[in-house]
Amino acid sequence: MPHKPFKAVIPAAGLGTRFLPATKAMPKEMLPVVDKPAIQYVVEEAVESGIQDVLIIIGRNKNNIANHFDSVPELETTLERKGDIDRLAKVKHSSDLADIHMVRQGEPRGLGHAVWRAKAHVGDHPFAVLLGDDLIDERDPLLPKMLAEYDRRGAAVVALMEVDPEQIHLYGAAAVEATDDPDVVKVTGLVEKPNVDEAPSNLAVIGRYVLPPEVFEILERTEPGKGGEIQLTDALQELATATAEGVYGVIFRGRRYDTGDRLDYIKAIVQLAADREDLGPQLRPWLQEFAATL
Ligand code: UTP
Repeated sequence: MPHKPFKAVIPAAGLGTRFLPATKAMPKEMLPVVDKPAIQYVVEEAVESGIQDVLIIIGRNKNNIANHFDSVPELETTLERKGDIDRLAKVKHSSDLADIHMVRQGEPRGLGHAVWRAKAHVGDHPFAVLLGDDLIDERDPLLPKMLAEYDRRGAAVVALMEVDPEQIHLYGAAAVEATDDPDVVKVTGLVEKPNVDEAPSNLAVIGRYVLPPEVFEILERTEPGKGGEIQLTDALQELATATAEGVYGVIFRGRRYDTGDRLDYIKAIVQLAADREDLGPQLRPWLQEFAATL
């Protein structure tokens, strides 16, 4: 039987300690990337992939996120009065984008716990998880391929990306076997943040997942793992090794920006602004001059 349209879950309740003090009173998902908060790119990606129902898992400082996706009548009226149609459209766009819901995580007990909090909203259906600080460049779409693989295989799908082996300790790492599609692998095991000598490969799990509802039962009994947090990777390891369907990985070879990391955040802003029609023509020559001084 075909399942209902996919819903998207965006966890945005982490503490964002790598970005303190900027994230003391603001979630890292609200940090601007050029002129939009990171999380808006992620909601736009879900919508572009055909998903209309979006659940954001919020933590402390929740109002920032809720306010961003609400309409602001005073601001709209002022822009209308000034005849500033472009900015009015931008302001309205974020509130008209999708059907956005919020659930609180309570305490930041880990990504697995944040995803588990989506259970009541998602119900007994497969769903997509998009991390709110992980940007996939819109020119290199990833989620549509993952949704199609879920439909084809009826199994959980994670996004994998080759990283420098020295960086694998920052990610979940996957042990994999080839399939008939060079962009898809079968995941035979997963380890959260392994040391380089213990990593099964240099294929890192990045922030996109398409999951079956069975993951909620597993998360419910998943004990805290690495860092004392309830890890989504541990629940995926169980799906990969103890269920008939298993887990598949779609290998991503496009542009991705981890905006929760300071250096990657700066690179994301420079790269995206340099590519934009409104900012690029002025920014690119300046960047060249600046680089020559280094
Ligand atoms: P991260 O590990 O990148 O987030 O979690 P963090 O803990 O906020 O980051 P640092 O290391 O302290 O800087 C990956 C994703 O999971 C969410 C985060 O918001 C991020 O999108 N998350 C993490 C939650 O929603 N709840 C949690 O308890 C933990």
